[in-house]
Amino acid sequence: MIKFSNVYKRYPGEMDALQDISLEISSGELIFVTGPSGAGKSTLLKLISAVEKPTSGTIIFENQNLNYLQKNEMPFLRRKFGMIFQDHKLLFDRTCYDNVALPLAINEIDPSDIGRRVRAALNKVGLLTKERVMPMSLSGGEQQRLAIARAIVSRPSILIADEPTANLDRGYADEIMNIFYSFQQVGVTVIISSHEIPKTTIHYKEFHLITGNLQNVPLLT
Ligand SMILES: Nc1ncnc2c1ncn2[C@@H]1O[C@H](COP(=O)(O)OP(=O)(O)OP(=O)(O)O)[C@@H](O)[C@H]1O
Ligand SMILES: [Mg+2]
Repeated sequence: MIKFSNVYKRYPGEMDALQDISLEISSGELIFVTGPSGAGKSTLLKLISAVEKPTSGTIIFENQNLNYLQKNEMPFLRRKFGMIFQDHKLLFDRTCYDNVALPLAINEIDPSDIGRRVRAALNKVGLLTKERVMPMSLSGGEQQRLAIARAIVSRPSILIADEPTANLDRGYADEIMNIFYSFQQVGVTVIISSHEIPKTTIHYKEFHLITGNLQNVPLLT
C-alpha cells in the first residue's frame, strides 16, 4: 500500500531529518514509529501523508508515485488519511460538533449527512454528550478524543497519529490506544508515533528511528 525506497528528507539549512529510508506498509497493519525526540518520527508521518515531499527517493502510495502527484490530485489523496497532529490543532472558538464537522464541510459532503456522521464520530470516542461544549472545557484526554473524532469523520482508510498519548496520564493513554486498536480491527491501517511501544496484544510492526536512520528494518512481506 505504501512503499518508501531510499527516501531522504532535508529541511532547508538543516541536516538530513531522514536518511535512506526504505520500508513497506500493507493495508490494515498496525504500525508504531518509535525513537527519541528529533529522530524524525513526525517527518516520517508527514511524508507518508504527503504533507511534506521527500528531498530524494520515491514514495509509492497505492501504485502511484507521489513525486509525480499533481496539485489537483492532492485533495483526493488527503481524503484517504485521517491525521491526528502532535499539537492536535483543535479550533477553540468552535464547539466540539463544529470541530468534527469541519472536514466534512471542506469535502463537500451532503449537508443532510453531516449531522449523522458527526454524531457517529463523537459517539465512537464517547463524546456525544459534549457536542455543544467548547473544547477548552474538555480534559486533556477528551481533547485528544475530539481530535480523533475529527480524523475519523471522513472515514479514512489510513489513520495517522503523531504521539497521541504523549501528554496524557496512563488511564487516558490506554483509553486512546484502545480507540485506535478498534479501528485497526475493522480494517483501517493505523500508524502511530510514540516514544515507546504501548501495551497491546495486536500484531504490529515497528519502525524505530535514531537520528533519521531506520533501525532493525522489519522483514518486508
Ligand atoms: N519544518 C522544519 N524545518 C526545519 N527543520 C525541521 C522541521 N521539522 C523538523 N525539523 C528537524 O528535523 C529533525 C526531525 O524532526 P521531527 O520533528 O521529525 O522529530 P521527532 O522524532 O518527531 O521529534 P519529537 O519526538 O520531538 O516530536 C529535527 O532535527 C528537527 O529539528
Ligand atoms: Mg514529533
